[in-house]
Amino acid sequence: MTTGTQAARPNLVLVGFMGTGKSAVGRRAARKLDLDFVDMDDLIENRVGKPISELFREEGEVGFRARERALVEELAGEAGRVIATGGGVVLDPRNLLDFERGGVVVCLLAGVETILRRVAAQDHRPLLEQGDKRARVGALLEQRRPLYQAIRHRVDTDHNVLERTVAAVVAIYRHQAGGDTPQL
Ligand code: S3P
Repeated sequence: MTTGTQAARPNLVLVGFMGTGKSAVGRRAARKLDLDFVDMDDLIENRVGKPISELFREEGEVGFRARERALVEELAGEAGRVIATGGGVVLDPRNLLDFERGGVVVCLLAGVETILRRVAAQDHRPLLEQGDKRARVGALLEQRRPLYQAIRHRVDTDHNVLERTVAAVVAIYRHQAGGDTPQL
């Protein structure tokens, strides 16, 4: 799978519910693996020139998902990156199929309490804007749990400090992608 050139190394794709730490873990994993890092939500915001919450208001969730889908197709067609996805990327099964074709997909898991703690002070997530945050997180997590659990590589973040999660993700990538990556 590996040829020794940077571009030919598979993508490492991080999926998981909001607040599971995809961006923080992804940034650090990219540094350790010497891969480029991309955060899909940030890239969508940069390209559209407005925050995700505004995009949701103007185009609805359907509009956002279409942009997300198009970006998955683009990124899955390239290599050599750590990609932090948005939590809802699992809703369209084509997204995971595309990412799994040439990349290593790892799902970060967390329980409701951990997620609430991590998203408590943030207000940029349109899906958590309305109603009680605990109820929203609980309901969405319940709906999506089977989709996250179906991913082969999963790392628990409830009982891990950030660096341990990063180490676990990096180890999965190295094991799946082959040997020509720098050591921790
Ligand atoms: C979403 C998660 C968000 C963002 C959008 C929708 C979701 O990303 O893509 O608000 O459906 O779970 P994060 O997981 O980075 O918060």
